[in-house]
This record gives sequence, C-alpha cells and structure tokens, in this order.
Amino acid sequence: MGHRVGVIGGDGIGPEVVAEALKVVAAAGVDLDTTTYDLGAARYLRTGEALPDAVLEELRGLDAILLGAVGSSEVPPGVLERGLLLRLRFELDLYVNLRPFTGPDDLDLAVVRENTEGPYVGEGGVLRRGTPHEVATQGSVNTRMGVERCVRYAFDLARSRPDHHLTLVHKTNVLTYAGDLWRRTVEELAPGYPEVTADYHHVDAACIHLVESPERYDVIVTDNLFGDILTDLAGAVTGGIGMAASANLNPARTGPSLFEPVHGSAPDLVGTGSANPLAAILSAAMMLGFLGEGEAATAVAEACTEVAAEGPVLATAATGDAVAARLGAAPEGPGPDGATPAGPSRPRPAGAEGKGSAKAVGAGQTGGGPAGGRRGRRGKGRRGGR
Ligand code: IPM
Ligand code: MN
Repeated sequence: MGHRVGVIGGDGIGPEVVAEALKVVAAAGVDLDTTTYDLGAARYLRTGEALPDAVLEELRGLDAILLGAVGSSEVPPGVLERGLLLRLRFELDLYVNLRPFTGPDDLDLAVVRENTEGPYVGEGGVLRRGTPHEVATQGSVNTRMGVERCVRYAFDLARSRPDHHLTLVHKTNVLTYAGDLWRRTVEELAPGYPEVTADYHHVDAACIHLVESPERYDVIVTDNLFGDILTDLAGAVTGGIGMAASANLNPARTGPSLFEPVHGSAPDLVGTGSANPLAAILSAAMMLGFLGEGEAATAVAEACTEVAAEGPVLATAATGDAVAARLGAAPEGPGPDGATPAGPSRPRPAGAEGKGSAKAVGAGQTGGGPAGGRRGRRGKGRRGGR
C-alpha cells in the first residue's frame, strides 16, 4: 500500500496547483493512497464548519497531508485561517515550519519558523468593541519547551548543511521577555553543536540583509510571526513566491506532517489556468523526502528547477506536464526534450544551477534524507567574513 496522504485542495488556486503536484508525484513513480478532503471556504459556507472534529481525528491517522491554500474573501478574515490551517498546525503539533529558498549565485537558505506559539496562539481579547473605549490585546506566547524544540531542530538542520551556520532572528531590543528566552535558548544549546556557528540579527535588519545580501544566511530560526513575514520576503527575493515551498513538520512523527506552498489562494488567478504550480510541486517533493522517498524527492525537485530555468513561465497544467515529462513517466504531451520551449531564461531562475534538490533534502533531514547531497556556497568566506 502507498503512503496514506490526505489531500486538501482548499481555496482559490489551491485545488489547481495540488492537482499538478499529484500528477508529478505519480510521474515520479511513488504510490500514494490519497483521500481528498472537502475543506475550505465552500464547505464552511455550506455547513458552518471549518474543520469538524471527526475529520481532524481521521487526519491524525494519515502519513502526510498535502494542502493547496486556505482563505477566501467570502469568509471573514481569520475564520478559515484559525479554524482550519492554524488548527491543523496546533492540533497536529506541527511545530516547525520549514521553508527553503534557493536562487541565483548558489543562494541556498532555509527558514525554520516556530509554528505553534508566538502571536499566533490567539492570546488576548477585546473589551468594549466598537466603542471609542475599545481595548484590544493580542499577546505572544513563548514557552521554553516550544522555543527549545524549534531551536534544536534548526541546529540539527544547520549541522547537516555544508555551511553549518545558524542565525536567530528576533527583536530582542524591544521584545525583551520573548527575545530573551529565544536568545538564551540558542546560547544554551550552542555548545552541543560545536560545528555550527550561531549568530543573531534583529528582524528589521534581517529584512535589509535578505534583500541586499541573502547569501549571508544559511539557516534562520525565528518566531512564528517574524517567520511568516520573512518567508514572504525571502520568496520574493529568491525564486519568487511561485517557487516557495513549505513543510509544517511534526518532527517527532507522532502524527502526519503537512506540506503546502507558501503562496495563498490568489483568487484573481482562479480558473485562469495561469497559477504557477511549482511551489505546490516542490512542497510535494518535501513531503516525499519526509516520507522516506528521498530519490523521488530529489528527482522532482530537480525537474522543477529545470522547468523553472528553461523557457518562459508556462500555464498551470503545462508546467505540471513539463515537470512530469522530465520524470519519464508522463503518458501525454511531448517528451522530455520538447516539453518546454528552449526560450530565454526566466527573469527569476530559482535554483537554476541544479540545487532544487535542497528543498526536498531539508524536509527529510530528520528522516535520514540525503542531507550530504546538498551543495554549499564554497569560497564565500562566510566564517571569516562575519
Ligand atoms: C502562511 C500563511 C498563513 C500564516 C495564514 C494563511 C494563516 O500566511 O502559511 O504563511 O500566517 O501562517
Ligand atoms: Mn504567510
């Protein structure tokens, strides 16, 4: 029997890009035993439920979940985000949100975003709503346990990569309570990782560095909200958000992990057939890596890299076909050589130097994935340059 995977297309372009991801996984020769779940805005509008308890219990028994996108203008902000996506992250204890980025000039960094705490927990409340005396508070919850398990994962990841470098990103100069906990945790774990160099950047400065000199980063570890914002920025300055994949991981494997593109539901693209499915396909590659299908994961990621690097942006289905064709098992369309026109390079040739496999490798790193297969940025003098 294949890996048991729950498929949640979700909202907007989610179902379209997830269909391409499944097409590519099949072409890679991996057998998935999929169950499709009707969750998202349509279900909520029909039944008033974002994630019924019974569905959550069923999801707990799966090996992995592949998700397209969550969010719709037809539902008030927060209802689906909190009720479906964040609920899955919290209930399934998906405490690491791993987001790898590659780009030109051997750029290769990974953000380890804490995924179950911080401002996302919904601590706070409102008083006298709608009056001139309204009070709204929204706290940030940081536990030693939650911070430590996330930082430990990030150190392990940094140790497995060629550059062995970890940067804590926070705002310790203002968020003195939470920042202090994060800083001390990194400092206390660091001696256990003598081969990893650990550094600290304020989040505002990190925004400048990500734009001006992203190559200074290897592994970034950060709080939930900072990680949300930084990863959109990292996507924009590397391969574009159309290439940004993510893994919501339960590294302890007490339940399924969830894989999703970083981009959202993009309602303006729905039905146009022009949404870029590469982020969803790369997310599926991360899923394969985590499920122990390292070879297929690497092949899919490399095929994505090739498709992104060669020729203009293709339509949604054509992109999926082009990636599938490179894996040799797609029955339809032209063969690997004719699948994409040999045109000029894309303006944003993410991972154009065959580094796409890094995306899959990152997700598999706790599962014995081929972490040694990554390419580093040799000759950049990272250690000496800081
Ligand atoms: C993301 C998204 C989510 C988040 C939303 C949809 C709740 O922006 O995965 O980055 O804020 O985490
Ligand atoms: Mn986001």
